[in-house]
Amino acid sequence: MKVGVIGCGTIANAAHIPSYLNNSKVEIKYFCDILPEKAQKCVEKYGCGTAVQDYKVVLADPEIQAVSICTPNNVHAEIAIAAMRAGKDVLSEKPTARTYAEAEEMLRVQKETGRILNIGVVNRFNDHVNAIKRYIDSGKLGEIFHVYVSFRSFRSIPGLGGAFTTKAIAGGGALIDWGVHYLDIVMYCCGDPKPLTVTGETFSRLGVDKANYLYENMWAEDTKDLNGTYDVDDSVTGMIRTSGPVITFNGAWAQNIDAEEAYIDFMGDKGGIRLTYGSTFTVYTQENGTLIEYTPKVKARNHFQNEIDAFVDCVETREKLPSHVDTVIITAKMMQAIYDSAAAHHEIQLED
Ligand SMILES: NC(=O)c1ccc[n+]([C@@H]2O[C@H](COP(=O)([O-])OP(=O)(O)OC[C@H]3O[C@@H](n4cnc5c(N)ncnc54)[C@H](O)[C@@H]3O)[C@@H](O)[C@H]2O)c1
Repeated sequence: MKVGVIGCGTIANAAHIPSYLNNSKVEIKYFCDILPEKAQKCVEKYGCGTAVQDYKVVLADPEIQAVSICTPNNVHAEIAIAAMRAGKDVLSEKPTARTYAEAEEMLRVQKETGRILNIGVVNRFNDHVNAIKRYIDSGKLGEIFHVYVSFRSFRSIPGLGGAFTTKAIAGGGALIDWGVHYLDIVMYCCGDPKPLTVTGETFSRLGVDKANYLYENMWAEDTKDLNGTYDVDDSVTGMIRTSGPVITFNGAWAQNIDAEEAYIDFMGDKGGIRLTYGSTFTVYTQENGTLIEYTPKVKARNHFQNEIDAFVDCVETREKLPSHVDTVIITAKMMQAIYDSAAAHHEIQLED
């Protein structure tokens, strides 16, 4: 299967490209980046493919069956729609798009063309997350009535003043960049409950004074631009009522806290689970008159490899994956409602 990788930055090099290279069914035919040196660097580094600057070259090649879209959020919708219209199957990075309206358009074109459109909600391919889903589905935790989500970091705003902190490019800040993964895990593990009401507040405080912002860690630091834009949320909080559990959340790229707080607490009436994000999980319950906790030993493969392998297989089999856009789009709807609620300072009632 011949594929093209569109956008040759961090996530392409860290996850998509090595995972395709590990999959014996795949040949990467194109590396595409608007910055030609980034595409060329991939050709040299991986010893395969052709470097191109315009994604339309990739889409015009009838040999290409599928593409990975690893560009910033502002072009996810444009490229995914063009790819599907060109008859390609698509794995597009998270978030689905900058806004719910863009995500809806992607879904509309997916239905119109019948192509596969998976979103890079990679945690749906994480073996620990899938083990938690099995705990919940089996009823072992009883009814999950509340999930608390914490995606808070101590001073870690990405590329201050660059694409990540520019709403026109990224669509939002900490919520759309990190929160998307956490909300997606909750929805997946809890059986995709229907969100009913959303209330949220967003804050843009710590990064606004760019010149005086002190940081401990700044990923994408090479895109930092102290004369650039900073108009996104660096922290967010709120509550979502669903047909299943109530979800409360507190997230931040930067907060004046002691250390990173990155976890999800699934609270059931028979037991609870804390997932430490990107790591293991602990079960809390009672047994034989005692309170117990244990950390299951899960044999975990690299979740990006799982995601790419599943994508490659589904291009052949046409099997629908849990990361397909029609399932994942609900998170885009929730995040839009959080932003809308924060702008209006009142609760949003979600409609069907
Ligand atoms: N799944 C995850 O855990 C995860 C992790 C990191 C990033 N991401 C997502 O991946 C996407 C990319 O993030 P990144 O950190 O790799 O960014 P990045 O800036 O490192 O890379 C993006 C690349 O896309 C290129 N690009 C921009 N517009 C293009 C266009 N029209 N055509 C071709 N190339 C274009 C840029 O030049 C750049 O090289 C974002 O949507 C981000 O949210 C996902």
